[in-house]
Amino acid sequence: MNRKLPTPDYTSLDFPPPPTDRPYVLVNMVMSADGKVVVEGTEQGIGSKTDQRLMRELRVNADVVLNGAGTLRASGSSSRLGNPALEELRLARGKPRLPVAATISASGDLPLDRLFFTATDFDAVVYLAHSTPPERCEDIEATGRHVVVLPAKDPIEAMLRHMRHDLGASVLLCEGGPSLNAQMFKAGSVDEYFVTIGPVIVGGEQSLTPVEGEPYTRETLRQLELVSAFPNPETSEIYCRYRIRR
Ligand SMILES: NC(=O)c1ccc[n+]([C@@H]2O[C@H](COP(=O)([O-])OP(=O)(O)OC[C@H]3O[C@@H](n4cnc5c(N)ncnc54)[C@H](OP(=O)(O)O)[C@@H]3O)[C@@H](O)[C@H]2O)c1
Repeated sequence: MNRKLPTPDYTSLDFPPPPTDRPYVLVNMVMSADGKVVVEGTEQGIGSKTDQRLMRELRVNADVVLNGAGTLRASGSSSRLGNPALEELRLARGKPRLPVAATISASGDLPLDRLFFTATDFDAVVYLAHSTPPERCEDIEATGRHVVVLPAKDPIEAMLRHMRHDLGASVLLCEGGPSLNAQMFKAGSVDEYFVTIGPVIVGGEQSLTPVEGEPYTRETLRQLELVSAFPNPETSEIYCRYRIRR
């Protein structure tokens, strides 16, 4: 019997209220069956169209969609939903048509001709480090995008505080990459982890995994609780949602 299994609906998820000093934080990634997130320089080729739909459905819940500068340089970055029906859902819930897009960079070496900087249908914020060269800050500001310079101490916490207090964000969706994810986990600032497992093997000792950075020890491992897992026989993908145990 070929029973059709449901795919999840990520447009209307229930989240608890955010903490006072940061948004409620979701991380979303797609990885191969051997746990890799990049093939030939980007994530393209790992996830199906269904995975991309779910990525956009998750954005329906988000006030801010964040990518690290590495991902912006490699793949581009935007907060678009790519579907008027999803935008209508947000409007019906009293949210702006599109979430705010955000990126974070220390070098300030950003592709200023990319959609993230040129699009007029979504707002965007660029978080820079105290060490970012001033001329790079000026070039970025000249695009019209809002620039926030983070302090040297605890920059991730400061960025999240800005999102919560200055942008009024309740839900942040962090879409990678692995170095940024590592810092978000290290700061103890991730509440839920969504990961699609794609039916491919990428291989390679150097290939990135969803979370890079310093490894945890057996004592400090981040512990997760499975909230849901949907196998999709049509794409051979599995869509997993975990909550991070506190
Ligand atoms: N499979 C997936 O779901 C998925 C999702 C996203 C990305 N990816 C892939 O992952 C790769 C990129 O990942 P990545 O780990 O190299 O890069 P990344 O995490 O996207 O970005 C890292 C960069 O973010 C900036 N950054 C991070 N923490 C910072 C801080 N505390 N202060 C200031 N700036 C900070 C730095 O930018 P500067 O270098 O400018 O200083 C850093 O180099 C790409 O190939 C992309 O296609 C895959």
